[in-house]
Amino acid sequence: MESPWYRVNSFEHYKQLYSQSVENPDKFWGDVAESFRWRKKWDSVCEWDFNQANISWFKNGKLNITENCLDRHLSENGDKVALIWEPNDPKEKYIQWTYRELHNRVCRFANVLKENGCKKGDVVAIYMPMIPELTVAVLACARIGAVHSVVFAGFSAHALADRINDAQAKMVLTSDGLYRGLKEIPVKRVVDEALLICSSVSKVVVVQRTSWAVKMKPGRDVWLHEELDKVDSDCPAEPMDSEDMLFILYTSGSTGKPKGIVHTCGGYMVYADFSFRNVFQYDENDIYWCTADIGWVTGHTYIVYGPLLSGATTVMFEGVPTYPDPGRFWQICDKYGVNQFYTAPTAIRALMAQGDEHVLSYSLDSLKVIGTVGEPINEEAWYWYHVHVGKERCPVVDTWWQTETGGIMISALGDHGPHKPTYAGYPLPGIQPVLLDGEGNEFSDSDKEGYLAIKHPWPSMLRTTYGDHQRCINTYFSHYNGYYFTGDGAKRDENGMFRIIGRVDDVINVSGHRFGTAEIEDAINRNPQVAESAVVGYPHDIKGQGIYAYVIVRDRIDDDEVLRAEIVETVVEEIGKIAKPDKIQLVSGLPKTRSGKIMRRILRKVAEGDTTNLGDTSTLLDPKIVDEITEGAI
Ligand code: WTA
Repeated sequence: MESPWYRVNSFEHYKQLYSQSVENPDKFWGDVAESFRWRKKWDSVCEWDFNQANISWFKNGKLNITENCLDRHLSENGDKVALIWEPNDPKEKYIQWTYRELHNRVCRFANVLKENGCKKGDVVAIYMPMIPELTVAVLACARIGAVHSVVFAGFSAHALADRINDAQAKMVLTSDGLYRGLKEIPVKRVVDEALLICSSVSKVVVVQRTSWAVKMKPGRDVWLHEELDKVDSDCPAEPMDSEDMLFILYTSGSTGKPKGIVHTCGGYMVYADFSFRNVFQYDENDIYWCTADIGWVTGHTYIVYGPLLSGATTVMFEGVPTYPDPGRFWQICDKYGVNQFYTAPTAIRALMAQGDEHVLSYSLDSLKVIGTVGEPINEEAWYWYHVHVGKERCPVVDTWWQTETGGIMISALGDHGPHKPTYAGYPLPGIQPVLLDGEGNEFSDSDKEGYLAIKHPWPSMLRTTYGDHQRCINTYFSHYNGYYFTGDGAKRDENGMFRIIGRVDDVINVSGHRFGTAEIEDAINRNPQVAESAVVGYPHDIKGQGIYAYVIVRDRIDDDEVLRAEIVETVVEEIGKIAKPDKIQLVSGLPKTRSGKIMRRILRKVAEGDTTNLGDTSTLLDPKIVDEITEGAI
């Protein structure tokens, strides 16, 4: 399999492709798209109107992404390994499936979906641990044109129910239980609890992972292995329009409930492949591993779609970086001879804190490119990764992107181009980022911080927020006329390399996972003892940001510790363990202006441990509350 023409092979080549992509985006992306398998060619490459958030790519083209991920590779590469699955327990046997085998399994799973009443356009919620059937499930949906909505299996029953209801999912795909490190979680029970308040779901397909006893509701719940016995492996791919929905993925914003980001078939396919090949510089026979969970966008694009579109071997890992010991990642790299390794800064920091000996006992000789994603990487972690993992030999690709962007937007492309710690680098070909000042004017001064926005569409951008297009317009396209607004702040150095500073809205990034402060406040406020709360992020050594909650209680019944534990429990029930507040300060009031707006600036400073310069507090309704808060800070 030869690399296509659009795979960059030098920094000069990058610059060439970049200018072509900006001078004539339609020609550039039209040419890239030619290398895929289409049932029918498109009529126009890109039509767009940022004001109405109406964007289409490869209009009226017909394709099926799974034909491009699987069938297309069968004649020449059917026997190449597509997926390697490494279980949580290193003593359990790994799984290795060729493209032919994966194709076969996807077709059979797809037939199970059809037999159980699922059809094109139906939304299927997938709530599964990192088992190989998850990859199969995602592709099986895409095969028949069902829209997958993967929900991270760490979310609570409430959070799952919200997502099922918002998308009116018809079916849920899940497993009996899951193993993660020493934890064993009864996944099916969470689904059962969620479904008590979901009326749209008529079928649940359950994968057997743990063989624990689970309740199966007659007429609703079926076992995957039993259903597979009833179907064959012939499942023609459903022809999809380029702009038909491929998937929904829920993510948090600064207001309201999480929104369903919608990605469509054609553009997403083209950009997933394009960005994967370029950033990771994947070569034939390389083994590529991304440690993310498929419950997040990184897993969608860079475990499943990008690698498989490119005909790569992709590794999927069920467990956690520290089980059975903090050398687990490196042991897996050596075991399979991983060439490209992609993880999150929070994992790097957590492993760094465990001591160098765990990484130094592995050779890591096979590594060629190592990457990070999800949050800004601090200098110390960057160097540790570069020196101990990359052995100062592998380029570190610091990849900036978002659920909404579908694929990596700013990053070095392997070793082509300069690398500078804490700088994500240059935009990929076809991506036109700009910095805006508060008035929405573009500027190019170096070292000046601004709002990061994108001024031209790219194929894998979001198309809408499910069921509420106005919300999509308001969130992304109305802050600055004519731009997609990212919600991130950034600056550029004198050479034009981008450094991402972090969110400028009320979104906090905990271990690379996004939460709206309002979403956590809503959860906390569900506790009957809570009158009001305000949540802010603060710098955290491992997680990047920790969650700091200021809480006003009604009538205090329990002592403070019990109360705090109950508040944490409420958040775990409403959202999941991942959103647990790290610190809870019980307060008698919040710093509010006369118009009732909480002055978060003050709360952030206190949470950061900086009470020296709180700025002007004279406009507060009750300035004295600030003293109480600073004195009681944790
Ligand atoms: C942040 C994850 C700095 C950023 C793919 C963005 C980053 C949010 C980086 C999206 C990076 C992601 N450097 N910050 N390399 N990558 N972010 O939707 O704030 O889970 O807006 O997508 O993560 O998070 P999401």
